[in-house]
Amino acid sequence: MDALEAIMTTRAMRRLRPDPVSSEDLWTCLRAAQQAPHGGNVQLLRYVVVTDKGLRARIGEVYRKAFDVYADAFQNETPAARHLADNIGSAPALVFFLMPVMEWGGGLDIGPLHASIYPAVQNFCLAARALGLGTTLTTVIRVHQAEALELLGVSSGFEIAALVPVGHPEGSFGVAARRDVKELVRWI
Ligand SMILES: Cc1cc2nc3c(=O)[nH]c(=O)nc-3n(C[C@H](O)[C@H](O)[C@H](O)COP(=O)(O)O)c2cc1C
Repeated sequence: MDALEAIMTTRAMRRLRPDPVSSEDLWTCLRAAQQAPHGGNVQLLRYVVVTDKGLRARIGEVYRKAFDVYADAFQNETPAARHLADNIGSAPALVFFLMPVMEWGGGLDIGPLHASIYPAVQNFCLAARALGLGTTLTTVIRVHQAEALELLGVSSGFEIAALVPVGHPEGSFGVAARRDVKELVRWI
């Protein structure tokens, strides 16, 4: 697939079919993620891929609880986001992007650690799109992060930067509505 087409049509795909995704495809997406830039090329990101059905269901419960807190606090619930919250455990793969808890920059402002994590998450989503797989970058599970990390068997020292459900989409890919970039650029 043309790279620009993949970029323009990668969006939150929250309605996923439960049919399995091949490990080969998941590895392709993980390799694409790992190929992203990292500050100082230190490559601190770690991944946990969950395909075990029972564990996905338990993670799904934690996600739903976290989403309920978020939706109450922000009064910002769309039908698609609720659908994902109620069904994320049925997505065939749940991919966690873990970031170490650490001081970054030794007192120098060289940018937040997150800046070395999200390019990888987006690469993962773009590769998935190229393979016809739907994804959504989610972070709301951080509301109940300790519970989620315990389920993953991750001890202290890491936090969840993103949880990306992956699966074959129910709907079709398209270009999402966005503000016109021309209104947002100052070109001098
Ligand atoms: C940092 C970040 C966190 C997000 N967290 C969530 C989340 O927890 N749950 C969710 O359903 N979507 C989440 N999203 C997806 C956004 O809601 C989505 O990208 C936005 O609504 C645009 O959707 P679209 O690409 O389909 O137009 C997150 C996106 C970003 C960039």
